[in-house]
Amino acid sequence: MPTLNDLARSHTSLGEADVEWLHSLVSDWQLLADLSFADLILWAPASDGTGWLAVAQMRPTTGPTALQDDVVGTFAGPDDQRLLDVARNERRIWRESDPDWTTGVPVRTEGIPVTRANRVIAVIERCTNLNSARTPSRLELTYVQGADDLARMVAEGTFPFPGAEAMLVRSPRVGDGLLRLGKAGRVTYASPNAQSAYRRLGLAADLIGSELGVVTAGLWTSDEPLDESLMVVAAGRAPRVAEVDGNGSVVQLRSIPLIVGGSRTGALVLVRDVTELRRRERELMTKDATIREIHHRVKNNLQTVAALLRLQARRLHAPEARAALEEAVRRVGSIAVVHETLSHAPEENVDFDDIADRVAMMAGEVASAEFRVAPKLTGSFGMLSSAIATPLAMVLTELLQNALQHGFPHAVRDDGLLEVAAMRENDRLLVTVADNGVGLPADFDPESTTSLGLQIVRTLVVSELGGRLRISPRPGGGTEAVLDLPVAHDPDQAGTEPPNPDQNGTEQADPDQNGTEQANPGQADTEQADTEQVRPESGQPG
Ligand SMILES: Nc1ncnc2c1ncn2[C@@H]1O[C@H](COP(=O)(O)OP(=O)(O)O)[C@@H](O)[C@H]1O
Ligand SMILES: [Mg+2]
Repeated sequence: MPTLNDLARSHTSLGEADVEWLHSLVSDWQLLADLSFADLILWAPASDGTGWLAVAQMRPTTGPTALQDDVVGTFAGPDDQRLLDVARNERRIWRESDPDWTTGVPVRTEGIPVTRANRVIAVIERCTNLNSARTPSRLELTYVQGADDLARMVAEGTFPFPGAEAMLVRSPRVGDGLLRLGKAGRVTYASPNAQSAYRRLGLAADLIGSELGVVTAGLWTSDEPLDESLMVVAAGRAPRVAEVDGNGSVVQLRSIPLIVGGSRTGALVLVRDVTELRRRERELMTKDATIREIHHRVKNNLQTVAALLRLQARRLHAPEARAALEEAVRRVGSIAVVHETLSHAPEENVDFDDIADRVAMMAGEVASAEFRVAPKLTGSFGMLSSAIATPLAMVLTELLQNALQHGFPHAVRDDGLLEVAAMRENDRLLVTVADNGVGLPADFDPESTTSLGLQIVRTLVVSELGGRLRISPRPGGGTEAVLDLPVAHDPDQAGTEPPNPDQNGTEQADPDQNGTEQANPGQADTEQADTEQVRPESGQPG
């Protein structure tokens, strides 16, 4: 179905501002259809002067439709045309005296001119199915009277409210609950739903005759200070939406001040109980907060483990053993970084560029001062799921550590270069860690090294992340490690599941044969050591 925009631009000579006005009218005219128990068709004059084009249509939610077929995009027939011409030329609401029987049911048609800046820019045809009209109740009379006020406002150019923001969220509808206020802001009619909503807010008395602004303010029981604009809205003085929080219930109010012929006749206030909606929103927010809190605790626990290992290292005399424990501290630390980041992020996906920055900084800190080479990051990792982020953070730590430790083993180097380059390409992530250090040892065989660091890297990259790894001499001197990892294409859902390892694509034999259990921190030795003295972030030896 063509849109209002398309139709207005291709078939009418309406300007930008006129079309904008019609948009804001149709974003809010459900109200008019519901109060009228009638179908609405918005007709705009065709630019060649040949007639009227239907550019929008609305059915009532309060009663049966009078129009089975969609009319948008069609031109008005002779009967409709006459009605629309009269409404435009006489600039007033025009009602056909006899019902239209062409569809088999009696339909009363009216033309309501849509006025903007003193010009009639379109006409609304209101079609009421008279078959369903019964002896009107008080509710129906109030609706229809409100509809007539609104229709006059459309004709006078005061509805939609100029400058009012479009209703982006679903605002209350007529069927949710309706109050009619008189000139002084006193309730003259309350629909049963509206009355119930106020009862749930804690109102014991009848609403009829009360001053809605004052009554509403009196019901406020939330700890938050009373929103000033609430009184203005509840008094029917401003065309806005506000929420009342009272007695454990939340009720949304939308007021539509009625100003007809230049004088205030009162207001309509739509009332909707949104307690359940707000409760569910709060629940979701709590769930989110819980997940973040858990990440925070995992991070704390990991820091405790790191502190524990650090304590143990300090008690050892064999340098090799100490070094091994210190490396373990670093490995645990890199996982903690991921959890720390997740404890700030609202979703399961994390900005890995942030993590890479921190992992690089940690690696740089460990390198001793006299041959410090600062890692440089280029490109972008983008968003990654935590399932990918955790192993990748460990891999980066190992590779940076190796470059700093083995690539630059000797004193100061001014031209030391250590670069991490990341690139997302469709559903792949390419990462290069390159240094211009002394290079790999002559007898280094990347396929068969059994040292722990690269073993960990290989296990994580190949088995856990289903990617490939190549470590080789860097053209121009030094060493480079290249990772090629599959990640989900959509960055918002990046790698929600770690991909299956592709054993054929790996450059290394089955890693399980090579003591990988050592690479699994979950199976670490559970030896006890000075636990009572261990605190996160504390480095004091016992
Ligand atoms: N960037 C590098 N520059 C030079 N040599 C490296 C580099 N990365 C790894 N190596 C070599 O590979 C070996 C194995 O590394 P790794 O498995 O991490 O064990 P470790 O770091 O404990 O020696 C290192 O001992 C080193 O000889
Ligand atoms: Mg190493």
